[in-house]
Amino acid sequence: MGTVRLSVNINKIALIRNSRGSNQPDLAQIARDCEAYGAQGITVHPRPDERHVRFDDLPVLKAVVTTEFNIEGNPDPRFLKEVTNVKPHQATLVPDGPQALTSDSGWDTVKYHDFLVDAIAQLHAAGTRVSIFVDADEHFVEGAKAVGADRIEFYTGHFAKDFLKNPAEAVKNHVQCAKLAVNLGLGINAGHDLNLKNLKYYADQVEGLQEVSIGHALVCDALYFGLQNTIQMYLRQLNQ
Ligand code: PXP
Repeated sequence: MGTVRLSVNINKIALIRNSRGSNQPDLAQIARDCEAYGAQGITVHPRPDERHVRFDDLPVLKAVVTTEFNIEGNPDPRFLKEVTNVKPHQATLVPDGPQALTSDSGWDTVKYHDFLVDAIAQLHAAGTRVSIFVDADEHFVEGAKAVGADRIEFYTGHFAKDFLKNPAEAVKNHVQCAKLAVNLGLGINAGHDLNLKNLKYYADQVEGLQEVSIGHALVCDALYFGLQNTIQMYLRQLNQ
């Protein structure tokens, strides 16, 4: 297994900040600290209601992140305008609706072919790598190649749930789809509900995995272990 990079999703930190209307905790400082503690990327997911990270956080974060800055979201006109202005290293396109509590499925890359081709062209013109959030389904992996994505991000929510009952069964489709992705020349990321219990298993099984983005569980763990320890614990799951 090559090195799998850990990108820390700091949306939950922004949620805490927003709850009091001040700048505490300071998102830019958190991003710097995550990197100092070993994170190899910073991820944010601006949603239309800006209840987590806000669009005006994006240039501030772009200026401080020295590893890899990844912005996730549904590529509506505002998202595309703001993200192409900021030019992060990577954009991860997610099909969640404006009211979604969290992302809970990947793209139907066949049905949304034309829409995705257009969004990807705009992001590529800004020099941003594009990853497409997909379920572990060969049809959608092939569709991701067809729309011109550079990478896919596997939605791991179902894996995380099924892992509790039968890990081998839970990861099976991901292993198969990862082989297909590698053959097609697509890079592979993964995220959603990854945690200290399931991360090592996933990373060991899914060949070609390059990056995981983790938010909710990591921030919950940080309440008990502290941010520095927690990031180190996640990196150890990735054999780093
Ligand atoms: N990847 C995508 C596309 C997401 O939308 C999210 C949640 O914002 C994550 C990864 C991270 O999921 P979690 O917060 O469960 O670690």
